[in-house]
Amino acid sequence: MTDSVHDSTTNSGAVKGAVEMVRGHLPELATAADVSAISEHIDYLVIPAFKGDTGIEIAGGPGQALDKQYQVEMWKVLTAVGATGTEDEVTVIPGDVLAGSGIEADRILAVGLGSSEEITEETVRQAAGVASRKVKAPTTEDGDKRGAHVASTLGILGTEAALVGHALGAYRYSGAKAATPGVDKVTVLAQNAEDDAAKKAEIVAGSVAMARDLVNTPANVLYPESYAEFIRTEATAAGLDVEILDDKQLEEQGFGGIIGVGKGSARPPRLVRVSYTPADAGESTPFVALVGKGITFDTGGISLKPGANMWDMISDMGGSAAVVASIIAAAKLELNVRVTATVPLAENMPGSAATRPGDILRHYGGLTTEVLNTDAEGRLVLADAIVRACEDGPDYLIETATLTGAQMVALGLRTPGIMGSIDFRDRVSMLSQEVGEKGWPMPLPAELGEALKSDVADLRNISTTRWGGMSVAGHYLSNFVAEGVEWVHIDVAGPAYNTGSAHGYTPKRGTGVPVRTILAALEDVAAGNATNTGTERG
Ligand code: BES
Ligand code: MN
Ligand code: ZN
Repeated sequence: MTDSVHDSTTNSGAVKGAVEMVRGHLPELATAADVSAISEHIDYLVIPAFKGDTGIEIAGGPGQALDKQYQVEMWKVLTAVGATGTEDEVTVIPGDVLAGSGIEADRILAVGLGSSEEITEETVRQAAGVASRKVKAPTTEDGDKRGAHVASTLGILGTEAALVGHALGAYRYSGAKAATPGVDKVTVLAQNAEDDAAKKAEIVAGSVAMARDLVNTPANVLYPESYAEFIRTEATAAGLDVEILDDKQLEEQGFGGIIGVGKGSARPPRLVRVSYTPADAGESTPFVALVGKGITFDTGGISLKPGANMWDMISDMGGSAAVVASIIAAAKLELNVRVTATVPLAENMPGSAATRPGDILRHYGGLTTEVLNTDAEGRLVLADAIVRACEDGPDYLIETATLTGAQMVALGLRTPGIMGSIDFRDRVSMLSQEVGEKGWPMPLPAELGEALKSDVADLRNISTTRWGGMSVAGHYLSNFVAEGVEWVHIDVAGPAYNTGSAHGYTPKRGTGVPVRTILAALEDVAAGNATNTGTERG
């Protein structure tokens, strides 16, 4: 048994008895200037509903896409069934209300956005996501289910937000179970319908879905070698350059952190490097390095984690999934910024060759770490990857990881903690707020860095005290970031994986956070908004 597992990992074939990697489902996206311009059958027409002082309001929002008379009809029916327009409220009424209007939809789905005076892009994305999640696949004449076609007037409040929200809310991952139909196509009504909006939203949602798929894939299917091959296939298809270092090369080249963490596993580690150079890149093209934690499963190693919820540790490669998906999206969007993605992939297992508490590792670049807890493994692989990424001389470094339980203690399950160079940290946090991923700036208090001094190595991998664990990890990483690089560290331990129920456009399990924060930051740098001011870290 052990032999066959070992054999299958040294060959490139799938592991015997394991399922294949499964991709989630996303709908096709389109825009239209008018409902009457849609020729296909509409299963659901989504309309926004607001909470007014005296009841539900639908005029002023969808009204522009529909004649007044039918707005009044819809308002009457929605009021009669008790709809109020409260945020996330979903009310489905028969499409008959629109009989004679020229618009034929089987059902109308009114989604609440709360007060019309407090609408942001995020409100629109959330509402679109909720609407997509509440769509029930229609039944055909044969009694089978088929994918629904949804038309949505939410686009009047923000075309891209509506497209992205609808797409992300419609995402479905079925794993080893048979896929069930959901939403197959979304047509968003937008007054200035540009083809570009749907295309861009498809790229953004597609990259979020890729990150979700990778996180959702269990660790017997996604392990360093198979993950590296996945990246090679996807990145090459997008026209990117890919380099994979195997365990032998990692050892020869001195990647002691990655080797040290990977040693307890029968599945050897990898370091994958992807690069994107825009077609007309020149001297002045800005350069962003991305780094993401890729622990395909984190048992804690010899410092073994408790059994309860250990299964959630299939998500411990969420940072790497986000940077891989982001660099592919950057290429598809042809962003004017040079990007590299450096992802250390390892499985943290307590095998007989595993790193022990007390062992000292020498990282790529020469710094040493005394490993006092093998469960603080993410920082060990990231240290090597950060040094490697900085070797290319980037202007900016965006690094993300499911790094600490302390992130969840400090900020809860939905708020990434963003640390690093002060100006860039604040800029990326603002962008994260704008895209709805909600990253928040966190400090790196100096005394927490002091607690990482070791008597026998440059650093220890855990603090001497229990406090401020998220910032302690940030401090640890800052030791490996080259001078002059504007750096952010985004801790997404909670936000990358939803262990609760679906909400807004966020499904259960993999969320794809922080893909849209990274993309927004890359766009910002490409637009020349962010400047490498060489600010302090703190
Ligand atoms: N992968 C975990 C962090 C984590 C925990 C992510 C829960 C998502 C959910 C990380 O490798 C870890 O184990 N961190 C330790 C560090 C500690 C030993 C200093 C932690 O946070 O407990
Ligand atoms: Mn760990
Ligand atoms: Zn981990």
